[in-house]
Amino acid sequence: MTTVTVTASQQYDVKIGRGLLSAVGKEASRHFQGRTAAVVSDTNVAPYYLETVTESLRRGGFRVCSFVFPAGEAQKNGGTYLDLLEFLAQEHLTRADGLIALGGGVVGDLTGFAAATFLRGISFLQVPTTLLAAVDASVGGKTAIDLQGGKNLAGAFYQPCGVLCDLDTLESLPASVFADGCAEVIKYGMIGDAALLDRLEKTDFRADPEEIVARCVAQKRDLVEQDEFDTGARQLLNLGHTVGHGVEACSAYTISHGKAVAIGMTIVTRAAVSYGRCPRGVLSRLTALLERYHLPIHTEYLAQSLYEKTLSDKKRSGDTIALVVPIDWGKSQLQQIPVGELAAWIERGNAL
Ligand code: GLY
Repeated sequence: MTTVTVTASQQYDVKIGRGLLSAVGKEASRHFQGRTAAVVSDTNVAPYYLETVTESLRRGGFRVCSFVFPAGEAQKNGGTYLDLLEFLAQEHLTRADGLIALGGGVVGDLTGFAAATFLRGISFLQVPTTLLAAVDASVGGKTAIDLQGGKNLAGAFYQPCGVLCDLDTLESLPASVFADGCAEVIKYGMIGDAALLDRLEKTDFRADPEEIVARCVAQKRDLVEQDEFDTGARQLLNLGHTVGHGVEACSAYTISHGKAVAIGMTIVTRAAVSYGRCPRGVLSRLTALLERYHLPIHTEYLAQSLYEKTLSDKKRSGDTIALVVPIDWGKSQLQQIPVGELAAWIERGNAL
């Protein structure tokens, strides 16, 4: 097992290894003073893992209740959030008790936001069961729900009291969901880890994911520790996300987050090459790597539609938008782009 310690407004360990679902009860008893644990999960994940986690919590001396909602990004909304808060109130959870987020990014974001707001703050443990949640969403304390106006528009920075990443859960993932996580792993490489990219080019990390997951989490830890509230360095984690959110929105969220990020990374890299800010070879290596991990590298949406959807993203601030631009293999830079120039970036990046 590998442990990465994050020191933010709360210090916590991210434990990465095998068989950790059975250790949830022990971990919860380190953090929750009360005797009730509420497990939050969705209909994809609960049939596989809820029983193991419930048993572990009971062995740890907890009364366990569970809230299972229909799987999918569409459920990360105000209705599910209020249902969850009402459920916690009906189960009489107190501030001494705690929540367990058992699932992917949707479960983690929703549970975290409920934890941040129920009784003005209750402890929660993240137990990610997708690669995407393991390397990104479960770490760093971004919690949110979607509004009709866009993704993650209501939320809070609220750190978990611990993260237990059981690598065994990655084995049950459908290939397409695993690929979504690969997009985030490649993103970490493109931000600042050329050696990670080189390795991904040569080996398939599914055989031994512990070191690679830990490496991504450590990179995220470094950025979160520098900039917990996302006003500077942490924004590097948005590589591919600005245009990626436009792709997701154009598709009415039928294109998954990881696939959209892969397309977004390709578009911004192609534009950076065309502006002479990034060597051409980086684009061909990146697209080959994305394809190796079964990720898309272009979209049918027109640049103008992508631009319009991208503008509603919250990364816009006044008349500028923070764009993460690859400048070399394993190296990216944050650039403030006047909103008026973004259309040209997308136009150049979307050209075949
Ligand atoms: N997912 C990007 C971040 O946590 O900042």
